[in-house]
Amino acid sequence: MKGLISASVNALKGQTSVPGDKSISHRALMIGGVAVGPTTIRGLLMGDDVLRTAKALEEMGVKIDRVSDDFWRVYGVGVGGLKEPARVLDLGNSGTGARLLIGLLATHPINVQMTGDESLRTRPMARISTPMSQMGAQVIARDGDRMPLTVIGARMPTPIEYTLPVPSAQIKSAVLLGGLNTPGRTSVIEKRPSRDHTELMLQHFGANLTISNESTDRRIIALTGQPELEGREVTVPGDPSSAAFPLVGALITEGSEIIIHNVGLNPLRIGLFTTLREMGAKIEITNAREQAGEPAADLVIRSSQLRGVTVPAERVPSMIDEYPILAVAAATAIGQTRMQGLAELRVKESNRLAAIADGLTACGVKIELNGDDLIVHGAPNGIPGGASIESRMDHRIAMSFLVLGMNSKKPITIDDARHIGTSFPNFTGIMNKLGAQIKEPLQK
Ligand code: S3P
Repeated sequence: MKGLISASVNALKGQTSVPGDKSISHRALMIGGVAVGPTTIRGLLMGDDVLRTAKALEEMGVKIDRVSDDFWRVYGVGVGGLKEPARVLDLGNSGTGARLLIGLLATHPINVQMTGDESLRTRPMARISTPMSQMGAQVIARDGDRMPLTVIGARMPTPIEYTLPVPSAQIKSAVLLGGLNTPGRTSVIEKRPSRDHTELMLQHFGANLTISNESTDRRIIALTGQPELEGREVTVPGDPSSAAFPLVGALITEGSEIIIHNVGLNPLRIGLFTTLREMGAKIEITNAREQAGEPAADLVIRSSQLRGVTVPAERVPSMIDEYPILAVAAATAIGQTRMQGLAELRVKESNRLAAIADGLTACGVKIELNGDDLIVHGAPNGIPGGASIESRMDHRIAMSFLVLGMNSKKPITIDDARHIGTSFPNFTGIMNKLGAQIKEPLQK
């Protein structure tokens, strides 16, 4: 399968669930990998990104048993116990896998070479090498701090207090994971809170980690290094960033009503749901519960006429991955949706700001780019569609435009669907079961 085409549908109906949360899956493997005693993981995302993290950990001496697709066991090597890998670690498309692993291994006395696919090799790594060098490691990268790179791990790691230059859970997590094998207190200061899965997972494994919200724009996370982490049970909820695709599909397709079971609802991940509700979306949360410190619930979604809103820059960290699909929702809304402060979107799996702008324009939706702000002019009377969109090795761009195709006058094609498997294996099967019409295009 390479390309896919998505045609307009009548309504989405039925019940579904989405694969495990990508962020939590990476962290469960990594933290389980340096705990003592077995960690069991249920609901792990079987996407390529996470499988690459598992492979990299195995290369560094962590034994991992895939008991079944849904049930994994990790035999941790203890904090500080990672071994120098004999091979180059290839993290594929995964910025999270690469950046968090660099943090975890950089305070070990080992040298590691790391690379990724064409997309990952363009992404900036200075944001991680800067704090790592303060901790005593050296990261030697290509021009512009890109991969492939070599990490010369710190022989005598030093704890740091690090203020995040951009709100990023990846940078925060790299520093905290580096702090695990560092004697003393490592701390991170955030001005805007980003997803806290690393903090919750470290606490779940018994680390001494404190969080103090000193004011609305200063949150300090402090970790005491060299703890003995104990293997634990982890149940990974469904990924809210993946749930976003059937959810928006149902909202914008008249007559739809779907239920998505077991969606993770970490308060620092739900900016999209807040925004959609402000836009008039009917999203009901039922059966709320908690697993390993992470909230989850079932979502009932009914089609809704959306109205444009302004999405403030402060909300970016809580919905950083959801702007492509929000832009799709905005395209069907009445009025303009103004999304502010999107600079970080330029350094994701693709330049998402450009990908959204070009893709919507090609589909006949009017947009404006104003510095780091994107304005989408809704076309509630119908989107022309009919375009062929370059997915740019970016799973979320591919899935977003397939959702837009479900509501366009003419079908929308994406040139390459292979990266969808990094985060949402069986996306097409799940969407089509709800009523979507996504298939391989006829060969010309
Ligand atoms: C992630 C953090 C975010 C997000 C990424 C996953 C994580 O990146 O875009 O998909 O798991 O920590 P940034 O920290 O760079 O914003």
